[in-house]
Order: sequence, then C-alpha cells, then structure tokens
Amino acid sequence: MAPRTEAPESESAFIPSLACPRCEAGLSPSDFTGGGAECPQCHARYGRSAGILDMIADPSTLNTSEVETQDRVSANYDDVRYALPHARAYHESTMRSLSQMVPPRGAVLDDGCGTGMMLEHVRALGAPIEDLVGMDVSVEMLKRARARAERKALSYRLVRGDACRLPFRAESFDVVYARSILHHLPSPDAGAREIGRVLKPGGEVVFLEPNETALSRVVRGMARKGDKFDEDHKEFRADDLVALVRRHLDVVEVKHAGYIAYPLLGFPDVLDFSRVLPLARMVGGIMWVDDRIADVPFLKRLSWAIVVRARRR
Ligand SMILES: C[S@@+](CC[C@H](N)C(=O)[O-])C[C@H]1O[C@@H](n2cnc3c(N)ncnc32)[C@H](O)[C@@H]1O
Ligand SMILES: [Zn+2]
Repeated sequence: MAPRTEAPESESAFIPSLACPRCEAGLSPSDFTGGGAECPQCHARYGRSAGILDMIADPSTLNTSEVETQDRVSANYDDVRYALPHARAYHESTMRSLSQMVPPRGAVLDDGCGTGMMLEHVRALGAPIEDLVGMDVSVEMLKRARARAERKALSYRLVRGDACRLPFRAESFDVVYARSILHHLPSPDAGAREIGRVLKPGGEVVFLEPNETALSRVVRGMARKGDKFDEDHKEFRADDLVALVRRHLDVVEVKHAGYIAYPLLGFPDVLDFSRVLPLARMVGGIMWVDDRIADVPFLKRLSWAIVVRARRR
C-alpha cells in the first residue's frame, strides 16, 4: 500500500475548489494524499501524471487521438508559435484584448490552458487575484505550463482534467478564459455547460473560437489532412456559437477578430509566411489593417475568429 502522505501545501489551498468530475462531490483535504485523491462519495481514485494532479474521471470517455495530437503539438506552441517574435506579438495582442474584455478578478480558470501563455499573461497584468488555475487534458501541454511557471517564477496551479467534465465545484470561479478550447471538444455544448456550472453568479467567461467562412472551410480542410489536427477539431458559424453559449450563459458581447493577421502571423507552426514575407517588420501594419477591417460592416463577418463574452445568470 502506498504511504499516506499529505498533499503538497500549494495544493491544500486549491482543494476547496476541486470536485470529483464523476459525481461532482466536493473534495476536502482529508481526501488527498501526496499521491492523489479519493472521492468521498463514489470512491473514484485520482492519481498524478508527471507529478500533476490528474482528475480525469474516466479515461475511456476521452478522445484519445485528440489527446495524442495535443501532446505531440505541444512543442510547436512554445518552440514556434509563441517563440517567433511576429507570432508572439500577435498572440500577446489577442490575449490583451481578451483580458480587457474580461479583466481577471477573484478566482480565475484558464480552461484548456495549453502551455500556459494566458496564465503568464494574467500574472503579468499584476491584478490582485485570489487564485489562478490552469486545466488541460494534455499532460505534455501541462508539463510545459509547469516549466513556464518554474522558468519565470510565476504562481499558478495546474490540474489535468476534461473540459466536458470539469474537476471543480459549482460556483468556484469569477472569471474563466476559454481560448480556443470548445472547438477541440467532442461536445462543445458540454464544454459551455461546464463553464456555466463552475462560474459564480455574475462571473464571466470569454471564448475565442474559429469562425467558419467559405475560405476557412477550404483552408482548414487542407490543414486537417496534416497531423496537427484531430477530426474533433471544428469551427463555428458565429450565430451557432452564440446560440450554443446562450443555452448556458447570458451572452454580453460578440466580436469578430483576425483577418489578415490571423493566417499571416498567428500559426507559423502550421503555415510559416515569414519564409516569404518580412513579417517581423510588418507586424504593426498588419494588425492596424485588421483593426480597420473589424470596423467595416459585412467585411467584419469574414473574420477567422469569434470572441464571445458571457455571464453566469
Ligand atoms: C488550440 S489549443 C489552445 C491552448 C491555449 N488555450 C492557448 O491559447 O495557447 C487547445 C487546447 O485544448 C486542450 N484540450 C483539448 N481537448 C480537451 C479536453 N477535453 N479537456 C481539456 N483540454 C482539452 C488541448 O490539449 C490544447 O491545449
Ligand atoms: Zn465521486
């Protein structure tokens, strides 16, 4: 039998917001050992993956090929997408616009945190928040998020979980960032429902998801033939995304974003235009053009991304 050791101190403070994703019973410090946790109600056991608390209720419900894809592409995020200066500048600007729409306050969750870019962004803002939690299904992404925290002396907690069955108690968070997560889920509706469940009344979420247009269908069709996208990967017509979110939350604001900047700057790990264009010198101009297009009726609907801000009733 494994020795019964205390949960790490950094985790004890986090425990009040954790719940069993299988039966939703809240967990308390006595349910934890250094090695993991056991649900007091359904007795599901949760261990650790690479030392990170692993709160997947039932691994057989996960889309294994999506998890494998995300594990594999995690290196592209830190080494290419968020490393090349022009791509990083673009992503910094999108994160800034999300945190301006919904400023961090109280307890903050980054749902599908990937390698922790948004967690770093939130910490860099310096807002006096109570707690910052990153959750993702990919252990490789989480390992990189942990390495980021260690490298940059950032404080946040990480947990492995499934966005369709969040391992948190109802009404735990004031703010949720959901940057490019719903379109990866087998059930985006469950993803939005879960965010509605874990937000406190009056709490807010901001979603950023790909917008489906005639052009995006062609480009994504080509990209999906590579090994960087699982077949669960989808995009939304703006109205459909808004209707989906509305089933669980009050939609407060909808914005279209990303025109020429999104394909030119955003995804060098998928398509690297810096091989043929001096993008480092063009970043400011490209983002300026994007902002102008976003003001033009009709044209603005041709964006690559949709941003939806919503509030828990
Ligand atoms: C496009 S990436 C975005 C990552 C991060 N939000 C960012 O903006 O850099 C999508 C993320 O969703 C995660 N993901 C996919 N399916 C998930 C699930 N069922 N539960 C939690 N995370 C999931 C992936 O592992 C990946 O990190
Ligand atoms: Zn349980």
